[in-house]
Amino acid sequence: MGEISVGILGIGSYVPEKIVTNLELEQKIDTTDKWIVERTGIRERRVINQGQATSDLATKAAEKALKDARVTAEEIDLIIVGTVTPDMIFPSVACLVQQNIKAVNAAAFDLTAVCSGFIYGIATANAFIKAGTYKKILVIGAEALSTITNWEDRNTAILFGDGAGAVVLGEVSPGYGIIGLDLGAEGSGGHLLNVPGGGSRMPVTTESISQGLHFIHMDGNEVFKFAIKIMGETVNKALANAKLSQEDINCLVPHQANLRIIQSAAKRLGLPLEKVVINLDKYGNTSAASIPLALDEGVKSGRIKNGDVIAIVGFGGGLTWGAGIIRWGK
Ligand code: COA
Repeated sequence: MGEISVGILGIGSYVPEKIVTNLELEQKIDTTDKWIVERTGIRERRVINQGQATSDLATKAAEKALKDARVTAEEIDLIIVGTVTPDMIFPSVACLVQQNIKAVNAAAFDLTAVCSGFIYGIATANAFIKAGTYKKILVIGAEALSTITNWEDRNTAILFGDGAGAVVLGEVSPGYGIIGLDLGAEGSGGHLLNVPGGGSRMPVTTESISQGLHFIHMDGNEVFKFAIKIMGETVNKALANAKLSQEDINCLVPHQANLRIIQSAAKRLGLPLEKVVINLDKYGNTSAASIPLALDEGVKSGRIKNGDVIAIVGFGGGLTWGAGIIRWGK
């Protein structure tokens, strides 16, 4: 018997209603809409209202993905949520979603790979299904980055937003689904992008809060250089894993961090921008949610069609990165 083919049975996404435009940021910090659009491509982002949390977004995305897949919550064997903004330290967002959607037969855990969280989740779920351990897995990327963003710091406040995307993974026809993967990490670069406070190294104190250590800290230029180098490299490794080459890619769905990073990756991969899904103008960088949000848009808009070869690629804190090659369809 040949190996099981694992693919996406259904997809859904959700963003909170509240929009924060660049013009609104202009009123609060020393920046301009022009600078933000030119340097990042971002025009607005979504943020949660008080009282909302990551699991609320994740639950809505999960419900849509289940409906799209025509799979019931009881059929789900495992829920994996990529997130760095859980509702609380524990229980996990995955357990909160399990309760909300009544996936009573599912195991559940969160996974920390920052903006690569969705790709790490897909790779983990793929291995569980290929091994025969589980049949149907919900993989969710969900974040409320607005809650760890210092809205007075112009280096970071312009970049991030909130949202969630989810997929149901399961067996698909031979030749379809996930056909190549690459994951990587470089812990030596962890200090370039982190939230230093609030963990066991530096528990929350009034002092840690007054120093803003519970917010995202970032060396933007170093992260930019890393991103430009790694995006092409990891896609090429995933392509080699799939025994395909750059010309075979019909559509690139990259992590939505900065338009200039996406343009550079497309160039390195020899892809015209028409083959790239870009929606960061509307949502900014939503970390683990950004790839499934873009993938959902690509599919629902009809840009991604049955049989297409899709490359998904992300990078983020850790440092971490990853890419997947998927032949779209069931
Ligand atoms: N508004 C206006 N001016 C700003 C600004 C802002 N929000 N932020 C920085 N500037 C200024 C700087 O002070 C600097 O001024 P100077 O030349 O007088 O010193 C100038 O703009 C250029 O700053 P620089 O940091 O070199 O800009 P950049 O083109 O590298 O863009 C980032 C900054 C953060 C947008 C870019 O480095 C980036 O996107 N990095 C990757 C971040 C990322 O993807 N993080 C998440 C990873 S998952």
